[in-house]
Amino acid sequence: MVKDQMDQISKGLEDVNLKWTRLTSIDGEKGILKYGGYRVEDIIKGGALVEEVQYLFLNGELPNKKQLADFQGKIREGYSVPKYVIDAVTNLPPESDSVALQMNAFAALAATMKFKWDKQTDRDVAAKVIGNMAAITAAIYRHTSGMQPLELEPGNSYAESFLKATFGKKPSQQEIDAMNTALILYMDHEVPASTTAGLVVVSTLADIYSGIVGSLAALKGPLHGGAAEAAIAQFAQIGDPAKVEDWFNQNIVTGKSRLMGFGHRVYKTYDPRAKIFRSIATDLVKNNTEAEKMYKIALKVEELGIKNMASKGIYPNTDFFSGIVYMSLGFPLKNDIYTALFALSRVTGWMAHFIEYVEEQHRLIRPRAVYTGPEERSFVPIDRR
Ligand SMILES: CC(C)(COP(=O)(O)OP(=O)(O)OC[C@H]1O[C@@H](n2cnc3c(N)ncnc32)[C@H](O)[C@@H]1OP(=O)(O)O)[C@@H](O)C(=O)NCCC(=O)NCCS
Repeated sequence: MVKDQMDQISKGLEDVNLKWTRLTSIDGEKGILKYGGYRVEDIIKGGALVEEVQYLFLNGELPNKKQLADFQGKIREGYSVPKYVIDAVTNLPPESDSVALQMNAFAALAATMKFKWDKQTDRDVAAKVIGNMAAITAAIYRHTSGMQPLELEPGNSYAESFLKATFGKKPSQQEIDAMNTALILYMDHEVPASTTAGLVVVSTLADIYSGIVGSLAALKGPLHGGAAEAAIAQFAQIGDPAKVEDWFNQNIVTGKSRLMGFGHRVYKTYDPRAKIFRSIATDLVKNNTEAEKMYKIALKVEELGIKNMASKGIYPNTDFFSGIVYMSLGFPLKNDIYTALFALSRVTGWMAHFIEYVEEQHRLIRPRAVYTGPEERSFVPIDRR
């Protein structure tokens, strides 16, 4: 009996369909990622602003110009967050983990914002949260770099406003485009660990902010969002393209470490997002010597990784080159800021899944566990044990 039940356990919930979705589809064999039926490469080539894609996720269609302007207005409302939310960041030491600081800020919103799941208002709240997330993440970067947070200004686009409030100067068009693309590429990926964690939270009808805290907590781990930072940390540890081969033989071929930024539960081929990050990095690294060195190391690691692991369906994933793009933009390799940038983008995907689930397919997520402990036994009080 227990054996039958044990056989039914899906370890890691592999191949379990948790919900239906209109948001994202992945063909892991062919390496195709689509948002609402649009290939991600076509969205990028078509020059979409990230706000257009955020709108697509929340409303099911791409916006026209008027709808986009209204939506940007709602996002901008979220650029000013209550002071206590920024305090929830700045009251903690500057050495703090950036994703945990995002959790703290969203816990502060969960503690104070009135929220009820409601079809009439869910999307407006979500648009505001997208704005909140930019203000919170910019404040986290500045606080962990020893600077006072700046207010976000409306600017021409979400990516521009975010970069300006982060670095305190007007970004170049190349930087804005790279940030915009990174924000699109990380926006959603069906139901990975972070989205699933948030869905468990909102399935209890807890508020959207608490759902985001749950998602952030799951994103932190090195097997998920933490991989963006872990991948570039491994390039930094190698330190020199000439040392890649020895490092690879000693660490990866021996099975001592996993190659971070490689392998994926769904993709068994080259991740389409990694291809785009790789091509942006090619030009962008020219502005940043350190990032350029990381890029050269990454290319060599990629070559050996593919040679050794492609036969097992293990290829570069989205995190392999994204850290190099972030470093080229000026983000330092510290405090897990790269994972916080992943969350800045993914918060839209999380909320779109929450809304789809709560509005149209809600049921409390409550699985079972197979008991394998002792049979019933008599309780012995502590002084007789
Ligand atoms: C993402 C990841 C957890 C998905 O893997 P999964 O579907 O859970 O598969 P498993 O962890 O069960 O691994 C299956 C096999 O592939 C190997 N493998 C998978 N990814 C590997 C990697 N990055 N480096 C080395 N070996 C890897 C495992 O060692 C295992 O080998 P075995 O069967 O000989 O024991 C895994 O590829 C990984 O750890 N990657 C590194 C972290 C990372 O980049 N995460 C970001 C994902 S977007």
